[in-house]
Amino acid sequence: MEVQNNITPTIVFIFGGSGDLNNRKLTPALYNLFIDKYLPEQFAVVGLGRTKFSDEEFREKLHEGIKQFSRRQDGGNGEWKHFSEKLFYISMDGENAESYKKLAAFVDAKKTEWNTRVNVLFYLAVAPQLVPGIATNLGKLDLCSNSTYTRIVIEKPFGHDLKSAHELNMLLKNTFKEEQIYRIDHYLGKGTVQNILALRFANAMFEPIWNRNYIDHVQITNAETVGVEERGGYYEKSGALRDMVQNHILQLICMIAMEAPVSFDANEIRNKKVDVLNAIRKYSKEDVHSHAVRGQYAAGWMKGEQTKAYREEDNVNPQSNIETFAAVKFFVDNWRWQGVPFYVRTGKHLHDKTTHITIQFKLAPDYAFPPEASETWRHNRLTISIQPDMDIRIRFQAKKPGQGIFLNPVNMVFSYKDAYGNSHEPEAYETLLLDAMQGNATLFMRDDQVEAAWKIIMPIIEAWDARPPVDFPNYAPDSWGPEDAEALIARDGFNWINL
Ligand code: BG6
Repeated sequence: MEVQNNITPTIVFIFGGSGDLNNRKLTPALYNLFIDKYLPEQFAVVGLGRTKFSDEEFREKLHEGIKQFSRRQDGGNGEWKHFSEKLFYISMDGENAESYKKLAAFVDAKKTEWNTRVNVLFYLAVAPQLVPGIATNLGKLDLCSNSTYTRIVIEKPFGHDLKSAHELNMLLKNTFKEEQIYRIDHYLGKGTVQNILALRFANAMFEPIWNRNYIDHVQITNAETVGVEERGGYYEKSGALRDMVQNHILQLICMIAMEAPVSFDANEIRNKKVDVLNAIRKYSKEDVHSHAVRGQYAAGWMKGEQTKAYREEDNVNPQSNIETFAAVKFFVDNWRWQGVPFYVRTGKHLHDKTTHITIQFKLAPDYAFPPEASETWRHNRLTISIQPDMDIRIRFQAKKPGQGIFLNPVNMVFSYKDAYGNSHEPEAYETLLLDAMQGNATLFMRDDQVEAAWKIIMPIIEAWDARPPVDFPNYAPDSWGPEDAEALIARDGFNWINL
């Protein structure tokens, strides 16, 4: 394969280097980029953390991660060996400004060794409360003032609420220019999510009907079969609303609802998305109770295995009121979407692992057909399945074979697997890391985007905090969430669509 990269020699510093995210996602992503020859020859990854590792021990640990989590292993060409020589570890205390000198020294040494200027990426894969301290200390390094070659990548959650997100934005701006700051929402790196833009704007047939005149409502389901696993400590400060809705789900709404961009320039795309966020209705406390539903999973069975209630999970308060399920009915109050509900739901320990978006169109008039033909009269639907199967399907009415006119809803399906065979879609983190290294911020959240998203969620958080739930736990594992979620959509005459 030919070398495809156009990246300047690069050093990626990973704060939280010995942590789970690096092990499962970041190093496997970099490794796959390496196999695909996207990385420059002069490249180094430096894990940072308090735990003490030699470079060799660090490489060994990451190799275990590759074996478990990478979509590809060593292809027999010694790729791992070659890649692992680019991995280093520096043990340091992120709160101690002095230890940052080690990072500057590493960069200087590489500049001398490579005899060139280098891109430096600081990746903060750490608990949110550590981000301000690290960003402040990084700010004391001269190399951070180089806005062309130094970037900082920040994992979600970005802040805990509107106030803390705003403060974090302010703090980052003391050191970095906005174009150096890459706020990750890994859903934007998924190929199927990016394909929504292709579907909408590279085709002539969808856009003319993509509005309130033809669309009845939109649904987004993001369901997971896993519980909170070992992340109880994090989840207790988060809950489904902060963990999934504030970021991933609102971003999916943006992809569906945004106006056509005039170019694929990072700021143009992000401007169009911010317009959607600004147009989403902000509920009053009273409205929240009729537009949002929360749930928490009980003990029970998942696919034949006994599972704990959320309140029994490790590092979870036995009286916890944190929601593991949320469903919300949103409205985008603009010319295109006025009056079209966007129903979204997300939760842990649900019946299936699936993320899909359904656009339900208004019913066609049925008067021309005989009454028996219209018994199975159905709405047209366009469903975009993001995971685990990647496909797009259109449901429409067809005449059943045989005498007379009897109708039947049928599906026309575009499946990625059938169309492209087994060509592997890169993982979201591969796309995002490559973009960050190339300085392309299109798929990253801008400061105003993050704050606009918090503004939508805050009234719900505040209303829920003010009125603790009385029925938790209120859904069984392996179900589709609490009864109230069914009622939320049934009240409007619809039902949730399960694929
Ligand atoms: C993360 C959340 O952002 O997304 C997790 O913190 C969740 O709680 C995960 O499990 C889901 O991601 P994916 O890509 O598996 O849908």
